[in-house]
Amino acid sequence: MRVIVCKDYNQMSEEAAKIISSQIILKPNSVLGLATGTTPIGTYKRLIEMNKSGYLDFSKVKSFNLDEYYPIKPDNVQSYRYFMNENLFNHVNIDINNTRVPNGMAPDPVKEGADYDAQIEAAGGIDLQLLGIGRNGHIAFNEPDEALISGTHATSLTEDTIEANSRLFNSIDEVPTKALTMGMGSILKSKMIVLLANGKNKHNAFKKLLDEEITTSNPSTFLKVHPNVVLICDEECYNG
Ligand code: GLP
Repeated sequence: MRVIVCKDYNQMSEEAAKIISSQIILKPNSVLGLATGTTPIGTYKRLIEMNKSGYLDFSKVKSFNLDEYYPIKPDNVQSYRYFMNENLFNHVNIDINNTRVPNGMAPDPVKEGADYDAQIEAAGGIDLQLLGIGRNGHIAFNEPDEALISGTHATSLTEDTIEANSRLFNSIDEVPTKALTMGMGSILKSKMIVLLANGKNKHNAFKKLLDEEITTSNPSTFLKVHPNVVLICDEECYNG
């Protein structure tokens, strides 16, 4: 794993946008794995600027998002589909039909998971997967557990994640308790992984990702088995 420590959030976002734009320039029909959360918003802003200035073309790009609450309608402002439309897709020249987010209204979550992984395979696999990290070491919604599920699946959120995500809802009772998520197996099939982490509140998670042996009680440690991972953080996250 390569670690890039940036001065601040803006520089972290700039570095990530540089890597993602290089990927798209080298392979215009890249398949991107995308993440939600507060962390990648700055990166998406830079990508939007690059697109608007004519530097970066999303017209052939396909994307698969990591996760979605369940159940949730796509037009719910809390849904990750809504987040992606608002923070990236509506502002760049990507074909919205080439963007996938797990279907938060899927009648059969098991089938939705299998179909989602099959769609990723059919697209040729993910070229570059962007990730954030949860305070408890979760990746997407792969929460610490005795065992991890490899493929895309439905899962229950931990109290810590519900509490962490409640800042984006009116009250903690509104936070969905379930989600659909790509599994660690689906994520690790990506050709390249870029994980972003910023701020003091991610220091412990970031340190554990670097220091802990591979364990299902910290899903982020599974990134150690991947040959092409770049971790980009800011000084606050790195130093604590
Ligand atoms: C969320 C998402 C993750 C995200 C993480 C960190 O619950 N499921 O994909 O990486 O938590 O979010 P944030 O960037 O807001 O700290």
